[in-house]
Amino acid sequence: MAAFKTLDDLDFTGKRVLVRADLNVPVADGRVTDATRIERLIPTLREIVKVDGKAIILSHFGRPKGKVDPEFSLEQVVPAVVEALGHPVGFIATDWTDVTRVRQAIDEAPPGSVLVLENTRFHPGEEKNDPELAQRMASLGELYVNDAFSAAHRAHASTEAVARLLPSAAGLAMQEELIALEKGLGNPQRPVIAIVGGAKVSTKLELLGNLIGKVDALVIGGAMANTFLHAGGLGVGKSLAEKDLAETANTIRDKADAAHCAIILPIDATVAWHFEANAPHRFYGADAIDPDGMILDVGPGSIERIKGVIDEARTIVWNGPLGAFEMTPFDQGTVEIARYVAARTKAGKLVSVAGGGDTVAALANAGVKDEFTYVSTAGGAFLEWMEGKALPGVEALRG
Ligand code: 3PG
Repeated sequence: MAAFKTLDDLDFTGKRVLVRADLNVPVADGRVTDATRIERLIPTLREIVKVDGKAIILSHFGRPKGKVDPEFSLEQVVPAVVEALGHPVGFIATDWTDVTRVRQAIDEAPPGSVLVLENTRFHPGEEKNDPELAQRMASLGELYVNDAFSAAHRAHASTEAVARLLPSAAGLAMQEELIALEKGLGNPQRPVIAIVGGAKVSTKLELLGNLIGKVDALVIGGAMANTFLHAGGLGVGKSLAEKDLAETANTIRDKADAAHCAIILPIDATVAWHFEANAPHRFYGADAIDPDGMILDVGPGSIERIKGVIDEARTIVWNGPLGAFEMTPFDQGTVEIARYVAARTKAGKLVSVAGGGDTVAALANAGVKDEFTYVSTAGGAFLEWMEGKALPGVEALRG
């Protein structure tokens, strides 16, 4: 991995510093319901303000499609930034077509200020990586720091073009993330295994293709596994499965064989007849699923088998739950395996890296979100990284 610049490469003393953050956090009834992304930004902000730099935060929020829409104003997120930082934070209502007044407001703010600008996606140039918008953004700062790994898969004006116009570096959260990801797949201790779950093979084809060339074993769970079981000639009853992808699933298995990557599929399953929490359920062998039933989780035999695979591993990368984890008792497989990975990590036997929206929620449900080596708050960016793609926001920081 070519090196990327870090905060150590920049001197913030008395400088105006643009900080690309990801303030795209969940909000309900005007309140932030999960401030993890904001909390991870705080160390970088502190590094800037402690030497009297001004931290000028750029972020998107939601998908307002290039139009000003008060529903997506970043002003509503500012109280959560204040709470996490323990320091006043200003908000500047930004007209992204003319930033003269924003520039004045920044100049008037005292040294050590933290200022949030309005949603970058209120201007259509943001998502088009428009050079003129990037110039306008760059005119507001002297240095640029990107601390938003979770937005780094977007080549947008505030993540990509502006990074090339100012001296730039990765923030502390971005740096920690890139180091963790390097340990996960870039240069892992072997054996390395991946656990991939979730509903659809079709959304994870590139990811599976990349992983089989990199990991020693690939554990497949969730409804995705049903597609593989069906492709292998087994009945999956009324389970969610992409039957038209049977050939694709078999090709993935053949490629995995050729790459000496073991594919670990469920050997048994928890089957129910209604898709609802606490629905009556029974365990079946994967070769004898009830034709009227639905697979909603891996079964106890599969859980033991996966634990055995984890015992052999020194590194694990995880994306996607193993069952319908939002409903008890169908979260059992995900919860047990998450706790097992957490315990092995704590015992120093495993480096564990997990990410993706549902995955983080599943680990939180198992009570082990803070017990993995690293849990990424990124959704799409984490998936693109698992697919082996270069992320434009990261590439722009390489020295
Ligand atoms: C995310 O929440 O995954 C990031 O903020 C990116 O958001 P986007 O998918 O709207 O670009």
